[in-house]
Amino acid sequence: MYLSPVAADNVNISFSSSSADLGQALSQLQSVVERESEAGERAALDELLAVLSSQSVADTAAVEVGRSVRRVVRRFDLPAEAVAALVDLRAQVGSAPETMPHLWGALIADRTREFVGRRYVFEAIDEFLTENQCGYLVLQGDPGMGKSAILAEYVRRTGCVVHFNVRSVGVSSAAQFIRSVCAQLVADVGLPHPVMPSNAVDSGAFLLSLLVDARQRLPKEEPLVIAVDALDEVDGSAQPDVANLLFLPPVLPDGVFFVMTSRNVDVRLVAQSPYRELDLMAHGTENREDVKAYVSAAMSRPELAAWAREYGGGVDGAISDLAERSEDNFMYLRYVMPEIERGAYRRFGTDRLPRGLENYYGDHWRMMGMTARPLPRTKLLIVFTLCEARQAVSRSLLASIATDPVDELTVQEVLDEWKQFLHEERVLGQTRYSPYHTSFRDFLHRKDIVQAAGLTIEWVHGQIADLLWRTTFEQ
Ligand SMILES: Nc1ncnc2c1ncn2[C@@H]1O[C@H](COP(=O)(O)OP(=O)(O)OP(=O)(O)O)[C@@H](O)[C@H]1O
Ligand SMILES: [Mg+2]
Repeated sequence: MYLSPVAADNVNISFSSSSADLGQALSQLQSVVERESEAGERAALDELLAVLSSQSVADTAAVEVGRSVRRVVRRFDLPAEAVAALVDLRAQVGSAPETMPHLWGALIADRTREFVGRRYVFEAIDEFLTENQCGYLVLQGDPGMGKSAILAEYVRRTGCVVHFNVRSVGVSSAAQFIRSVCAQLVADVGLPHPVMPSNAVDSGAFLLSLLVDARQRLPKEEPLVIAVDALDEVDGSAQPDVANLLFLPPVLPDGVFFVMTSRNVDVRLVAQSPYRELDLMAHGTENREDVKAYVSAAMSRPELAAWAREYGGGVDGAISDLAERSEDNFMYLRYVMPEIERGAYRRFGTDRLPRGLENYYGDHWRMMGMTARPLPRTKLLIVFTLCEARQAVSRSLLASIATDPVDELTVQEVLDEWKQFLHEERVLGQTRYSPYHTSFRDFLHRKDIVQAAGLTIEWVHGQIADLLWRTTFEQ
């Protein structure tokens, strides 16, 4: 048996949530508990709430707690923060002691905020699960179309096991995927605390045997679904050429499904089990409807409504034009709508709204003076470093990367100018920054942008490596 119970005694497992607001999660759960007094699963819901409130669980109760997460999420249609906290809890319950699992709660909560539409996608997923014994379904689409959001929303609705590949924070390997999924699976089906063999991440053998084991512990009619985001961000270089990306099994056990997302790139995956791709880009009409619904809902925000009223074509015209300018891209809207609210486009008129996500980045790039002469070398280096570092970086670290002397105030000014493109997190009492969205990093990689910036990506990597080496050496 590859899994063995670690703690015979009743020890307490303490856990934390990556979600920005555990308090919000607790009050969301509390109100569901109060509302659902008749429900059969009420006891499980109560128990999860108690565990989240105390932030610790006895080892003996952990198996039951891990197992009830998905049941409760499916049954109660919980709000995002509550699901986020529960998914984090499950990952920690299923991880071997002393290991720090990847916590996806914060990402799930962020991507499902104000989520709208995508009915055709969820119907396609359900259809795939019903029509096949097992298989791979890959959702494809352009950057910013909302693939990660769909996956996060699917987790919010179903509580299934999930792994996100996020290159900008250094999560992109098969080993990380296997550790993350196995920990969640163990908790999801209620296996005892695991000790993963050290070679579990060197091939797909351990993952496959765990899938078989997990499958057997679930009712026959219940599909075992694993959601995997961003196959295009996986770094397969450490895997043998002949192996499937992430060591995904060519043949899946009956009842096991992978629902995955990827940009439209070739993915190294040979599957003998059923395999289907769903291209979001081929659903223009539905996408436009979804985007318009999103913009319409946002019109409850006073500044946006005021902007739309002043717009030549009236409110309906404003909604249609904004949807059209966005090219049905949610990332575009998530950037541009707050800027409209701040009044950024009022003086230009709507016709000056950028067309599509890349042009939006381009406009911001120019407005922030990145193409000015002489070139703002320090600013350029800071922004490129933020996107290339493959980990979240602090202000002081950014200040020490500059080739010319620079103080933290200057770095802060640059961070403020690029705030909407950055994700902020608190680590060990420090604020650290990483790119909010991969599409921004792609923009910086565009040949014309790199050339005009007067640097090369390799040079930036060299600077980062040099800095990290110096920092380690000095410690
Ligand atoms: N259906 C939706 N409703 C509301 N917001 C959405 C929706 N889809 C996406 N968003 C928001 O739009 C932004 C971009 O979406 P997302 O990150 O999912 O794009 P993506 O297709 O995964 O891009 P990439 O290929 O670069 O990873 C996110 O902030 C997300 O929360
Ligand atoms: Mg994505």
